[in-house]
Amino acid sequence: MTVQYSKQSIIAALAPDITQVKKCYPTQRSAIMPALYLVQEKYGFIDETAYQAISEILDVPEIWVYELASFYTLYNRKEIGKYHLQLCTNVPCMLCSAYDLLDHLQTRLGINIGQTTQDGLFTLATVECIGSCDVAPAMMINQDYHTNLSKERVDQLLDQLSQAAEQEPSAGQEPSAGQELSAEQKPSAAS
Ligand code: FES
Repeated sequence: MTVQYSKQSIIAALAPDITQVKKCYPTQRSAIMPALYLVQEKYGFIDETAYQAISEILDVPEIWVYELASFYTLYNRKEIGKYHLQLCTNVPCMLCSAYDLLDHLQTRLGINIGQTTQDGLFTLATVECIGSCDVAPAMMINQDYHTNLSKERVDQLLDQLSQAAEQEPSAGQEPSAGQELSAEQKPSAAS
């Protein structure tokens, strides 16, 4: 699904929220990160059009917006699948077989890092430490953490997510790509 938006439509949709957020910070620059997150929450990703809209709303140079969006991996700078699989491959997870899990995910989904499955369901990414080293290997799926992972547990999670997507009603009622899932759609937490 391709998200269609323009600078003006982003401004119309989010200027009130971003203006509200701005009041929590001493300078406009400090509000760029939450503004980026608001755009991502609504559309699933952030690109040049969003940088321009945020720049205009906050009255800051566009390059400031770009610098932050391109530095942090929590911002998606291209359209992603419905479920964003973010596997940690930093040292503690690596020592607990994260790369075996990565191979398994790539084989099962038929995609490489940074790619999205043809059905638009899964985007695969590797990330640095997500703060769950004591229960490695760990992966985030959208905003949820899954820990102590094994190949079997990964398969279970993917099956649950595929089933949840199949059971959803029309596309018009679906959440945007990468948005948080409802309680019913969330796979059960890992041990
Ligand atoms: S190294 Fe993977 S969660 Fe910290």
